[in-house]
Amino acid sequence: MYSHFRFYLPVALIGAGAYIAACTPSSSTCESFCQERVENASSWEVDQHASRDFSFYATPSNFSSDLAPGSLLSVEPVTDLFNYSIPSGLSMSRIVYTTNDLNGTTLPASAYVLWPYTPLSTSDQQEQGFPMVAWAHGTSGVLRGCAPSNYRNLQYHFMAPFLLALQGMAVVAPDYAGLGINTLPNGQEIGHPWLSGPSQANDLANSIIAARKAFPSILTAEGPFVAMGHSQGGGAAWAFAEKQVNEPISGYKGTVAIAPPTRTIDHLKNAFGNITEPWAQVIIAGQPKLIAAVTAVFPSYNYSGLTPVSYDRWFNVLKPLDGCLPTDSVAFTNVTADQLAVPDWYEAPEVQRFAKVAESGRKKFKGPLLVVAGEADIVVPLDTVEPAVDDIGHESLSSHSSQPDEVATVG
Ligand SMILES: *[C@@H]1O[C@H](CO)[C@@H](O)[C@H](O)[C@H]1NC(C)=O
Ligand SMILES: *[C@@H]1O[C@H](CO)[C@@H](O)[C@H](O)[C@H]1NC(C)=O
Ligand SMILES: *[C@@H]1O[C@H](CO)[C@@H](O)[C@H](O)[C@H]1NC(C)=O
Ligand SMILES: *[C@@H]1O[C@H](CO)[C@@H](O)[C@H](O)[C@H]1NC(C)=O
Ligand SMILES: *[C@@H]1O[C@H](CO)[C@@H](O)[C@H](O)[C@H]1NC(C)=O
Ligand SMILES: *[C@@H]1O[C@H](CO)[C@@H](O)[C@H](O)[C@H]1NC(C)=O
Ligand SMILES: *[C@@H]1O[C@H](CO)[C@@H](O)[C@H](O)[C@H]1NC(C)=O
Repeated sequence: MYSHFRFYLPVALIGAGAYIAACTPSSSTCESFCQERVENASSWEVDQHASRDFSFYATPSNFSSDLAPGSLLSVEPVTDLFNYSIPSGLSMSRIVYTTNDLNGTTLPASAYVLWPYTPLSTSDQQEQGFPMVAWAHGTSGVLRGCAPSNYRNLQYHFMAPFLLALQGMAVVAPDYAGLGINTLPNGQEIGHPWLSGPSQANDLANSIIAARKAFPSILTAEGPFVAMGHSQGGGAAWAFAEKQVNEPISGYKGTVAIAPPTRTIDHLKNAFGNITEPWAQVIIAGQPKLIAAVTAVFPSYNYSGLTPVSYDRWFNVLKPLDGCLPTDSVAFTNVTADQLAVPDWYEAPEVQRFAKVAESGRKKFKGPLLVVAGEADIVVPLDTVEPAVDDIGHESLSSHSSQPDEVATVG
């Protein structure tokens, strides 16, 4: 879901806004003033990219859909940090690897690894290499340009990856399917299944497996790691803990899920009955991205929930600019709630199926799991998180084997 900090995305340290939209989309609803504002937003956003050249995110020629998820496709051992604003002492690598979508289809994806100057010392370090945090980022957007590995500050800067790496952890962070790499060799687009925790959990798990293949001497097969994420990434992290039950990865020490979305479609339905609430406005504004996410999972849905106005803004304004969250917000300014999405679009069978497959929480998980939610959070409200935690007791802890797992909430 949106980062709570969406309006505080740090401004790039370098770059002076020289970007000019490459093409002039023919929108029928966003007139010249609107278009200029969106292009200004896009230009601000593009200035935060480390590179405007996305050649790193082209699918490598040795990609094949027959590969197992977690296969390594290419490694950039030392990322040139000239255009990144990463604290001195840290270094970075990027990898391209295979992940799998909710159908089990193999897809190419990218990730960064942020390296500490020196690893946190642990007693058994010689054998276990660097301790690792598998970091799942929050919503950055849903298009190609929204890959955190191509942002000067990796999007979450000191809020997570810098801080963790400065403390001696290697941070392995997937961009998620559809972000960064968004095209298969045959030209088919890879959609980003936004707010599909189990899908982003696949990306997280496969990035760990692939990063270990890329750097086996320091990210060892048994090395200790924790999964952690915020907002969309909180849902990914929780789903990752659930995935550990049947698909364990060695070295797993637990999960931290911060502000995890759980049942997004239910949350949206509740919003329509609480339309004046600030939290309702947030999820209502997210509908075009949710409609795109349903289409990514069920292509036959084909953006059916968009109205002619939101279809125009999506395809003729946002997409041509490859816009992420800030551009998205501006591209949909002045689109009224009734023009954002077709009434009751979420009752369609594909959307109901999406609601089930995209859900995080309420299932068996491998812990320990720390769930953190904020009382003042209107993006992922506490009253959407708490019931999901409470329901674990009824629905899954009873069927849980091995050691008792722990779950805790922090208000
Ligand atoms: C939004 O609508 C108002 C009133 O019609 C107009 O003045 C303003 O320019 C519009 N803003 C954008 C971004 O289109
Ligand atoms: C777009 O940015 C330019 C340059 O900063 C500024 O002069 C112009 O007023 C902006 N346009 C809009 C519609 O905000
Ligand atoms: C793809 O090629 C790279 C070298 O460019 C190699 O490191 C990697 O192992 C290859 N992956 C597969 C699955 O063949
Ligand atoms: C840094 O960004 C500039 C401007 O976009 C570009 O010309 C240059 O190639 C980039 N350098 C690196 C190392 O990526
Ligand atoms: C308003 O939202 C709450 C959850 O915050 C939900 O329980 C309730 O059903 C909603 N009201 C309506 C009328 O949908
Ligand atoms: C995944 O499988 C479902 C059910 O078979 C199908 O409707 C959907 O199109 C598939 N999704 C993709 C991305 O192929
Ligand atoms: C989706 O709908 C558009 C028209 O809105 C149509 O041009 C396109 O062929 C459809 N795609 C699929 C996969 O059904």
